[in-house]
Amino acid sequence: MAVTQDELYATLDLELSWSERELPERVRTKHVHRLHPYHGKFIPQLVEALLDRYLAPGDHVLDPFAGSGTTLVQALESGLDATGVEVAAFNCLLMRVKTAQYDLPELGAELRDACARVESLELGRVRPPREAYLREWFAPRAAAELLAFRDLIEEYRYADVLRVILSRAARSARRAAHFDLEAPRVPQTGEYWCHKHRRLCRPVESALGFLRRYTLDTLARVEEFARVRDAEREARVLQADAREVAYDAVFDGVVTSPPYPGLIDYHEQHRYAYELLGLDDRREREIGAAAAGTSLAALEEYRAGIAAALANAVSALRPGAPVLIVVNDRRDLYPEILGRAGLRLESRLRRHVNRRTGRRAGEYFEDVLVTRPV
Ligand SMILES: C[S@@+](CC[C@H](N)C(=O)[O-])C[C@H]1O[C@@H](n2cnc3c(N)ncnc32)[C@H](O)[C@@H]1O
Repeated sequence: MAVTQDELYATLDLELSWSERELPERVRTKHVHRLHPYHGKFIPQLVEALLDRYLAPGDHVLDPFAGSGTTLVQALESGLDATGVEVAAFNCLLMRVKTAQYDLPELGAELRDACARVESLELGRVRPPREAYLREWFAPRAAAELLAFRDLIEEYRYADVLRVILSRAARSARRAAHFDLEAPRVPQTGEYWCHKHRRLCRPVESALGFLRRYTLDTLARVEEFARVRDAEREARVLQADAREVAYDAVFDGVVTSPPYPGLIDYHEQHRYAYELLGLDDRREREIGAAAAGTSLAALEEYRAGIAAALANAVSALRPGAPVLIVVNDRRDLYPEILGRAGLRLESRLRRHVNRRTGRRAGEYFEDVLVTRPV
């Protein structure tokens, strides 16, 4: 028999369970959280509530699976220092751009200048690009515009901001159906029925509109974050494997959401950025990558990998520090992982995720494992 709403709610931490109306998408993706889409992030309001309950302003929080940097950004907003470890180069770039401090008038001048230059560029006769990936995934004009923008980037002080704008524009300008931007498998070359817009759509021919729009949007978001962050606090990004990274600080707590086994390929989802920017691809170091599957051997590798990363984090914590792990542990892997990592489960907070960032709707629950070093 299905449980009643009252029974269901009795098992939930309602302060950590927001409805779509209480927390609409634009609030979940406020300021720099939306500098670039990222499939698999948690929401800043969850991090805010956890920092508020378990840490204090001035503390130093660690996220060993930092992803797009939600923990780091929220830590700066809540008045904490933060360190993020992340194996994927694009995610590290994105985090550094989100958490850096800028001379805002100079940043504004640079972004507007780059945009104006690329709009007035004479591209000449557009030929298909030489690189196989670009040729397959972009219309010739879109590729030429993206490459022209890329060629300007090195000239600017805030080149990394332009790299993120280029990547976001490339994501939108790919030959992918509008409803399938997260993980398109094959290029969409002709007209198609678009489930998102409920009409016939055509693949994008040009990237200029995206470059212009995202340049302005990025500037507005960086300015908005500068108004709410604590300028005295710092975020550090370490591009490394969390199992092996050598920590050189003592942390007051961990807030993290580890990858889940066999679900998401964190390098592949930003392939266009790796291709355009020539970033170092370390996908073989991803724990639980979708490509590895969910065989018994893959699950054991996953348990060992997450346990090693958590144990490494524990070695850099002050005694008794909280380690908060956000998971949807439907395979019940975490009791063993925690034991191996030297963590004791203090409580398990269940939250109702009404709608994650992205298009997936429906019932979805996740747990916050509140743990401490043994
Ligand atoms: C669920 S995501 C974290 C998302 C993050 N909470 C956010 O809001 O953006 C897990 C992250 O772990 C990273 N990861 C996977 N294996 C790793 C490893 N060995 N060392 C460090 N990071 C790793 C993935 O690249 C991915 O970005």
